[in-house]
Amino acid sequence: MKKLRKTKILDIKNVCKHFPIYKGVLRKVIGYTKAVNNVSIEIYKGETLGIVGESGCGKTTLGKCILQLYNVTSGNVFYEDADKNQIDILNLSKNEKLNFKKKIQVIFQDPYSSLNPSVTIRKTLIEPLKIHKIDNPIEKITNILSAVNLDPDYINRYPHEFSGGQRQRIGIARALSLDPEVIICDEPVSALDVSIQAQVLELLLSLQNERDLTYIFITHDISVVEYLSNRVAVMYLGEIVEILDTVNLVNGSKHPYTEALVSAVPVTSLKGREKIILEGDVPDPSDPPLGCHFHPRCKYAMDICRIEKPLLKSLSGSNSHFVSCHLQPS
Ligand SMILES: Nc1ncnc2c1ncn2[C@@H]1O[C@H](COP(=O)(O)OP(=O)(O)OP(=O)(O)O)[C@@H](O)[C@H]1O
Ligand SMILES: [Mg+2]
Repeated sequence: MKKLRKTKILDIKNVCKHFPIYKGVLRKVIGYTKAVNNVSIEIYKGETLGIVGESGCGKTTLGKCILQLYNVTSGNVFYEDADKNQIDILNLSKNEKLNFKKKIQVIFQDPYSSLNPSVTIRKTLIEPLKIHKIDNPIEKITNILSAVNLDPDYINRYPHEFSGGQRQRIGIARALSLDPEVIICDEPVSALDVSIQAQVLELLLSLQNERDLTYIFITHDISVVEYLSNRVAVMYLGEIVEILDTVNLVNGSKHPYTEALVSAVPVTSLKGREKIILEGDVPDPSDPPLGCHFHPRCKYAMDICRIEKPLLKSLSGSNSHFVSCHLQPS
């Protein structure tokens, strides 16, 4: 894996997305689902940051906040340009917003539902180029189809005329068409066969190298994250509980939740290690447990864990490993 330069590209600061819960015909607000709660993390140019965690922990919601598909409840996302100017991307004017949207694109899990079945690939790919008034759109999409290993002659076909892997490559082509700097990949290979998964992951890696792309790679598959990410952020109940370099994921994680996620992966490096079965479901994000949100499922829980919420702090002697757990010395 290539060495990172650690030039900041995005700075996510205290982002919260709380969805109101309504009740009755008058739709009275009776609480909030804290899908993303106080998430802060820096993202570096050219890296792949993996975001992992169980279903419902807020991975997609965080991605949608960064993409501005949701209005955040509070918090900021700053983009740092080449001159180190910090641009507050959640508070741009309408015109600035349209201009900026090119820089961050998305690849979704299910390419079939994210492609309009009634229009050709030409129309799907050309639409964003027209909105952004890009010159020579046909030439551009021909080049992009070649870049994702699809025959440009397929341009007049409809989505149902492609295989799952080909459809995902069209999804990748669409994300690339505006020359973005950051791509949020939300479970991009989860719906594909294992052999096709490997092809698509290889393609994403080679495109990253060619185009100096930054990926935020959302998945619940630890082995995929191990394969392609430089760093990993682990989410639990809307919050980041650990950030670490991927090389430390298997043998150097410090949060009991990360330890449990890793222990469930059938990889050779973990042979002989005890499998930690996480008891119970992820708690309701509208009514999280007091203290550390993970304590009811944690086999190491101490009295303090039931009362006081641990903060995400850097591990002593490290500037890249952060963990929120009372087991760590303060
Ligand atoms: N539009 C919405 N309105 C209300 N609640 C929502 C909305 N979208 C997500 N949620 C809730 O927010 C929480 C986080 O959901 P999210 O989809 O971000 O999780 P996830 O980590 O992406 O899960 P998965 O791995 O299943 O995709 C869940 O409790 C979910 O029910
Ligand atoms: Mg999701």
